[in-house]
Amino acid sequence: MVRHFLRDDDLTPAEQAEVLELAAVMKRDRFGYRPLEGPRTVAVLFDKPSTRTRISFAVGIAELGGHALVLDAGTSQLGRGESIADTARVLERQVGAIVWRTSAQERIEEMAAGTSVPVVNALTDLFHPCQILADLQTVAEAKGGLKGLTLAYFGDGANNMAHSYLLGCATAGMHVRIGAPAALPPEPAIVARAEEIAASTGGSVTVTSDAARAAAGADVLATDTWVSMGQEGKDTSLYEPYAVDEALLSRADGEAIVLHCLPAYRGKEISAAVLDGPRSAVWNEAENRLHAQKALLTWLLQRSEPGAESGPE
Ligand code: CP
Ligand code: NVA
Repeated sequence: MVRHFLRDDDLTPAEQAEVLELAAVMKRDRFGYRPLEGPRTVAVLFDKPSTRTRISFAVGIAELGGHALVLDAGTSQLGRGESIADTARVLERQVGAIVWRTSAQERIEEMAAGTSVPVVNALTDLFHPCQILADLQTVAEAKGGLKGLTLAYFGDGANNMAHSYLLGCATAGMHVRIGAPAALPPEPAIVARAEEIAASTGGSVTVTSDAARAAAGADVLATDTWVSMGQEGKDTSLYEPYAVDEALLSRADGEAIVLHCLPAYRGKEISAAVLDGPRSAVWNEAENRLHAQKALLTWLLQRSEPGAESGPE
């Protein structure tokens, strides 16, 4: 059965741990794994801008011995209205996997439903699951594990990063807190799904408008831009109490690390002192996109081969 990664909970807790372990192995021996030798081609499609995702998939696929076919919507027929289903049927006959950054989650679900090759979510409006794998790898490196740690996210509670932290951290058995304006909370269905996962992994979920409460004693502080792609011009004044600055960091554990998926806006969601300071893990986090995605692609392709173990029910 073909395996896709469209949202963080497409991996069970055991599977997420396997992918993260493989990512650590691939980081230690960066050029030692070439499962895409041939080369197999992976289509990497962008309906929105990208720096890190574009670079890390292109570099990672090359390091695995494969070829990355990187396409922007503006230069493909998809951007002129060709249907997702027709694109999926054309791609599956020529590429080994499809990586796609797009807007609505329904679009990537339609792509996955229409193709026999693995589809990977490289960011939608609802989730950014590849980023969370890299973030979990970064936390595990800094802290020696994940289970039982507390990650607190601040700012836009209704965006892709908040939603993916909810599902991805709950899957890892972490305590995840979202500090966000009461008027702009995460999607209730995603909070409920994260609570369901956390109940089985020993984690927990807290959504609060009290930033100080969210930060108290946390092992990891995380934030993201207040203005996601496609939201240009939005009013951000409600987010101001949720800026990750030295005052907020002082409420966290003394050894806390700080994450930001980047691009960052110093003086808005994060202060320059914190982003560029000693607790910041953001550059390692950006590098780990490479290792986590190499592991993910390798794992998905292995699991999608005929006769491979089937996935969760
Ligand atoms: N963090 C992230 O996905 O960055 P890009 O938008 O540059 O790919
Ligand atoms: N929430 C941000 C993440 C960028 C990587 C966005 O969607 O623009």
